Amino acid sequence: MVQQEKVAIVGLGYVGIPLATVLADKGYDVHGIDVDAKRVADVNDGVFPLKGVEPDLPDMMVDAVEKGRLRASTAFDGCGEARTVFVCVDTPVGADRKPDNERLVSAAEHIGQNIVKGALIIVESTIAPGTMLGVVAPAIEGAAGMRLGEDFKLAHCPERVMPGRLLHNLTHYSRVIGALDDESAERAVEIYSKMTKGELHRTDLTTAEIVKTAENTYRDVQIAFANEVGLICEKLGVDAFEVRRLVNTCPFRDMHLPGAGVGGHCLPKDPWLLVHGGCEADPVLIPTAREVNDGMPSHMADLVGDTLTELKVGRSDAVVAVFGASFLENSGDARNSPTQSLLTHLENVGELRVHDPYLEDIGGVAVTRTLADALKGADVAIFMVAHSDYDSITPSTFKELMRRPGVVDGRNIFSGEKMKDAGIVYRGVGKGVT
Ligand SMILES: NC(=O)c1ccc[n+]([C@@H]2O[C@H](COP(=O)([O-])OP(=O)(O)OC[C@H]3O[C@@H](n4cnc5c(N)ncnc54)[C@H](O)[C@@H]3O)[C@@H](O)[C@H]2O)c1
Repeated sequence: MVQQEKVAIVGLGYVGIPLATVLADKGYDVHGIDVDAKRVADVNDGVFPLKGVEPDLPDMMVDAVEKGRLRASTAFDGCGEARTVFVCVDTPVGADRKPDNERLVSAAEHIGQNIVKGALIIVESTIAPGTMLGVVAPAIEGAAGMRLGEDFKLAHCPERVMPGRLLHNLTHYSRVIGALDDESAERAVEIYSKMTKGELHRTDLTTAEIVKTAENTYRDVQIAFANEVGLICEKLGVDAFEVRRLVNTCPFRDMHLPGAGVGGHCLPKDPWLLVHGGCEADPVLIPTAREVNDGMPSHMADLVGDTLTELKVGRSDAVVAVFGASFLENSGDARNSPTQSLLTHLENVGELRVHDPYLEDIGGVAVTRTLADALKGADVAIFMVAHSDYDSITPSTFKELMRRPGVVDGRNIFSGEKMKDAGIVYRGVGKGVT
């Protein structure tokens, strides 16, 4: 019988779980490692640990566990048998917005203590420019007593998945592979060519770091631009979504959607990784874009205030229901969710309710999963996330269940005209009131 090639994956989250699953599906013998004992137990028990809708991935993971191709542990000794070790730990920024590499360094040191000569370490986590050579390599060298290049190989292949599309992106998107040398690149290409139908682009380690942080920063800046146009349109009584549609009829324009805010593990911190990544840059545009996007939940709160004024309801009497607590539609990922920020602006309302199909609580506020419970007797319904559960809501739903129907729409879910025709007070991000 042919021996299956062993690989280890450190960090079993939104990036590590799909990676482990696909590698097992491609015939590798996969050892997952995580510091979270519950996460490890879930994987070994065949319980898919990520919340939200992930087409085909949960069944595939369970199948890999049942076939004995995927198992997990909190110990790092699995790295000692692996020819390739992937690093998929979270890489946040600190309160000073500088890279917080604590988890990354800890993972690298544990890997260093366990790897054998000739191992290839591939970092999939998003990291600030200079981290592979300045942080990861020295941590492994120090712990392993080995020399970079001679005793172990190194590559950085930043991940491009997103919640809701984990399996699809992993198996279809092109990848950038930054490598220490030719052997590191060739070995990484051999593995990734089995996983994705997309193209594989080879480059050096630092270029790959900048590519990933720049691609997310670019998106953040584009969203900030759309948000700013949305705010201008609101003031001018114009619909920014119609403006966007018409702007995008001009070739080479790709205006994004304005909305209630930007969240998730990645977009709120990757721009800071780029600008604070070991150089003395003096950025202006990127921090300003972050400020615009971070300000959107506060703007949503202002729209709630306007709606209450028009409804003639005092804040302390108001019953307010927030719909959507995750950062993304149909996902249970609540990291840096704009709803968390909005709730801090709504502390002084009479009664605050939150609905989400996937979460139990957000920032200490209990979440209901029943739409009618959230809407019944409410004065204002605030839509922060376009979960598909909200597709079935019509103006008559609001009229039947709410006390005084007011709607604040942060995701362009409803038609302002239809709301107005139904006698509902309606405000929306990017939607001017005429
Ligand atoms: N979430 C996404 O959609 C996405 C997309 C592209 C890139 N990324 C990047 O990938 C990385 C991982 O993101 P994620 O969303 O999977 O994070 P996550 O928080 O879902 O998962 C990280 C896992 O790593 C574990 N971990 C932390 N420190 C560890 C250590 N020292 N040893 C072992 N396990 C450890 C945590 O317990 C957790 O289970 C980040 O750098 C992120 O920016 C994420």
